[in-house]
Amino acid sequence: MSRIALVSAMHEELAAVLARMPNEHKTVVAGREFWVGHWHGHDVVAVLSRIGKVAAATTATTLIERFGVSRIVFTGVAGGLAPHVNVGDVVVAREFIQHDMDASPLFPRHEVPLTGMTRFLADPVLSDALAAAAPFAMQDMLATLPPNEWLNLDLPNAKVHQGLIASGDRFVSQTLESQTLQRDLPHALAVEMECAAMAQVCHDYGVPLAAVRTISDRADDAAHVDFPRFIQSIASRYSVAVLDRL
Ligand code: ADE
Repeated sequence: MSRIALVSAMHEELAAVLARMPNEHKTVVAGREFWVGHWHGHDVVAVLSRIGKVAAATTATTLIERFGVSRIVFTGVAGGLAPHVNVGDVVVAREFIQHDMDASPLFPRHEVPLTGMTRFLADPVLSDALAAAAPFAMQDMLATLPPNEWLNLDLPNAKVHQGLIASGDRFVSQTLESQTLQRDLPHALAVEMECAAMAQVCHDYGVPLAAVRTISDRADDAAHVDFPRFIQSIASRYSVAVLDRL
């Protein structure tokens, strides 16, 4: 059996996916609702991880241990870090790093102690498939989203980026902090709060992980306004579109 996990952190990011699985079987484990069912004929389990690295690690472990998933696909939003990554763009993860991991001077900064690893890889096959799906998903989404709901974003020209995603237990909402992160991790494209923790668990278990994040804000002084606006109108529509194309 090959079961795929479909994961987002927040309801706003997965609502449209869950709406398409109304008659599926729900199981509650560790306070989370796991929806076991089907997506385009595939055996899937959909779940909200909740926010943060511990919540993500608990969810990944449960998916693997209790639900026997063989692959995990995460869809959600992130803050743009690199200067060319704008609100409305899409980032397909190729690597993950925990930006708040720091056991120095015992271990190098950002290295996960006793693993020798600083970055965890996304699964190349799943990530290739996500990268191929992403531009079509954007077109599909725009076809159903009236222009007056585009939040004044140039969505038809949104870009798909691929590369490093940084995770940490902080909602980055100050330009100064974003600049510090960019200085410390110049290759990081986006920042969020879950996927590098999930990647560590997936690495331990040998389970492939891929993630796609739409950019909801620039992780700057306006993030607290941009983030809620984006997740209310666009995030979940994009998740369903990209999972349909995938
Ligand atoms: N997810 C979306 N925007 C974010 C931000 N600015 N910081 C952390 N996680 C995020």
